[in-house]
Amino acid sequence: MSESNGTRPIKGELLHEGKAKRVFKTDHSDRYIQEFKNDATAFDGTKKGTIEGKGSVNCQVSTRMFRLLESKGVKTHFVDILSDNEMSILPVKIIKVEVVVRNIAAGSLVKVRGFKEGTKLDPTIVEWYLKDDSLHDPLLNDDHIHALGLANSHELANLKKDALKINGILSEFFASIGINLVDFKLEFGRRPDGKIILADEISPDTCRLWDRETGNKLDKDRFRFDLGNVEDAYQEILKRTSAIR
Ligand SMILES: Nc1ncnc2c1ncn2[C@@H]1O[C@H](COP(=O)(O)OP(=O)(O)OP(=O)(O)O)[C@@H](O)[C@H]1O
Ligand SMILES: [Mg+2]
Repeated sequence: MSESNGTRPIKGELLHEGKAKRVFKTDHSDRYIQEFKNDATAFDGTKKGTIEGKGSVNCQVSTRMFRLLESKGVKTHFVDILSDNEMSILPVKIIKVEVVVRNIAAGSLVKVRGFKEGTKLDPTIVEWYLKDDSLHDPLLNDDHIHALGLANSHELANLKKDALKINGILSEFFASIGINLVDFKLEFGRRPDGKIILADEISPDTCRLWDRETGNKLDKDRFRFDLGNVEDAYQEILKRTSAIR
């Protein structure tokens, strides 16, 4: 979809200010605008900082990923990119379940589940986390999700299928630009007619991206663990993902 035919939505009331983005209503009842910020947080918001240029990188990288996914038949909330850090999106009711897909062991798999960092995972692991910072986004199983009324078993099965399809598309693309897609987090939401589509963002904030040759980390872990060259890593991902422009 494109807003180029004179229907470019105009920013209205601020609906939600999150840690990485602001979401605005617009003059069009079926459009929101999501604005990407340079603010960075980690560890439940306890570590705070700024990554120069991040908002712009994340908006452009997300745009490229959503367009790639749409071209392969995945329904997303993406409508159009409006400026270097703003995109128009379809409003959804976010499902309070963060869907994490893991191809290679890193992060919490290493810290609390006994995996050695860098181990290739077979099968690919799909995990559900409750989207609730005040509870520190706890891991959920299917029964928790049903009992909390967050999604039914049919929806959950489809979420897993969609997440694995998205993983296949993104992993192949990142491999083609010399990057291992280690893991990533997705958010889905319900449209007014009940259809579930992919929402939020796909960016170096929400993916672990390792250079295939050097193993160099090109994602938010550089900020989380003070690895240095944070801005450079984001710019490198912007540069390499231009391959699908
Ligand atoms: N299409 C959409 N419609 C409605 N809300 C959306 C859509 N896409 C993303 N969102 C929500 O907009 C917000 C984006 O802001 P951001 O990512 O900064 O939030 P966050 O700090 O990660 O989480 P929180 O929701 O806890 O504030 C998130 O709450 C996200 O779930
Ligand atoms: Mg977020």
